Amino acid sequence: MRDQEPGVSTPIFEGRGLVKHYGSIHAVDGIDIAVGHGEIVAIVGDNGAGKSTLIKMLSGAIQPDRGEIRVEGVVHKLKGPNDARSMGIEALYQDLALLPNLDVTTNLFLGREEVCGGVLRPFGFMARRRMRHDAVERLDALQIRIPRLWGTPVSSLSGGQRQSVAIARALVWASKVVILDEPTAALGVAQARAVLELSQRIRDTGTSVVIISHILPHVLELADRVVVVRHGRKAADLAAHEVTQDRLIALIVGSEEGDGYAAAPALGEQGEDEVPGVAFGRAAAADLGEG
Ligand SMILES: Nc1ncnc2c1ncn2[C@@H]1O[C@H](COP(=O)(O)OP(=O)(O)O)[C@@H](O)[C@H]1O
Ligand SMILES: [Mg+2]
Repeated sequence: MRDQEPGVSTPIFEGRGLVKHYGSIHAVDGIDIAVGHGEIVAIVGDNGAGKSTLIKMLSGAIQPDRGEIRVEGVVHKLKGPNDARSMGIEALYQDLALLPNLDVTTNLFLGREEVCGGVLRPFGFMARRRMRHDAVERLDALQIRIPRLWGTPVSSLSGGQRQSVAIARALVWASKVVILDEPTAALGVAQARAVLELSQRIRDTGTSVVIISHILPHVLELADRVVVVRHGRKAADLAAHEVTQDRLIALIVGSEEGDGYAAAPALGEQGEDEVPGVAFGRAAAADLGEG
């Protein structure tokens, strides 16, 4: 939140009391999360903490058992990702969901016709041309370079290039909020860095960013706020400049409780004394393979 005083403006995007259970698994067990205008909110937590489930509810990919989503203060029932898209909210999921046999351009525009249907349908051809023009402009503005836009199937690109395509697809359409689940997991250090810088450029265009990441040094450098999720609950919600990496790790593993949030089971119950998948520093980040 840069133009407004904190606490004064309505968040652009909010989940309240979100719950998702899978049988006896309480994947998300009552989480409130608010995203301010032009704010980067990082979500961190151990594997299985509920991060992906949370963002899938926020983007309409799955339906919450309980709770509500608000966009600019208004409650919306998101029946699917297109409902979120039509409000300027885009998500990149952990599983990329690109169609490998289609080329980059086709992947970038996948599902768009539905969103641009309605009033634009009679002008189909013009609308598509306009859409492509706008998309290329936005990619340029964000300095996203995508190789071989036309004709080359996505399957022939490298992992990093595929990741750029998936990220670009989310970014190019997001006007209000872009939600990124582990966008740097498949990337090398330099590419990961480029993605993070990109998130800042997006924020600077006024689009808010919700990003799940294991790379804590990046999170601390990049985010305005950090939400720690543990055992399906919010363990802490802090300004990034208020928190150190050590404290963040303590909150992730549960050896320190955040202020004012529901207590989660103690660390001992998990039988773990380290955080799998959390990169503790730049050297660890360099080793990041699968994420
Ligand atoms: N579709 C599903 N069916 C059953 N269990 C699920 C499903 N999705 C997630 N879970 C479970 O919910 C918990 C939270 O998962 P997830 O949100 O993917 O965690 P994270 O992204 O933090 O690693 C895990 O125990 C996971 O196994
Ligand atoms: Mg996940």
